Amino acid sequence: MKKLLKITILIIFALNLNSCYYDEIFEQEIDIPEGTVVEFAADITPIFAANNCTDCHNGSQDPNLTPGNEYNSLVPEYVVAGNANNSELYSKLSGGHGNVDATSLALIAEWINSGALNN
Ligand code: HEC
Repeated sequence: MKKLLKITILIIFALNLNSCYYDEIFEQEIDIPEGTVVEFAADITPIFAANNCTDCHNGSQDPNLTPGNEYNSLVPEYVVAGNANNSELYSKLSGGHGNVDATSLALIAEWINSGALNN
């Protein structure tokens, strides 16, 4: 009986540890360090290339994300400078469109919230 209790406690402990681990992985927030300048050319357009957005957004489907056309195609129609949460680009991608990773999403949000410059 004592042994059973010990085993039960161990199992509960293990499950508990496991659930903390789970939270850590799936609720991780990516923070862009204070003072980082996110640049459209250096940081944002490579995200479109890396995620094959141009397989579809190549002129036939708006926004046109082919090299040289990205900025004018996105701003102001899909990007509200200074407000990522009100920007179609950000809300669409954070909803899973394009399978963009969390770091890239954080960069996009930071770029928009910093004024969505063509820098
Ligand atoms: C497999 C094809 C495909 C890929 C890959 C794809 N998109 Fe899309 N995207 C679409 C289609 C089709 C629509 C329009 C239908 C919809 O809103 O889902 C769309 C809509 C959008 C919109 C909103 C346009 C509107 O009119 O509301 C944005 C912004 C966007 N995509 C950005 C991206 C970005 C950035 C990537 C890459 C990370 C990407 N898409 C990857 C097919 C694709």
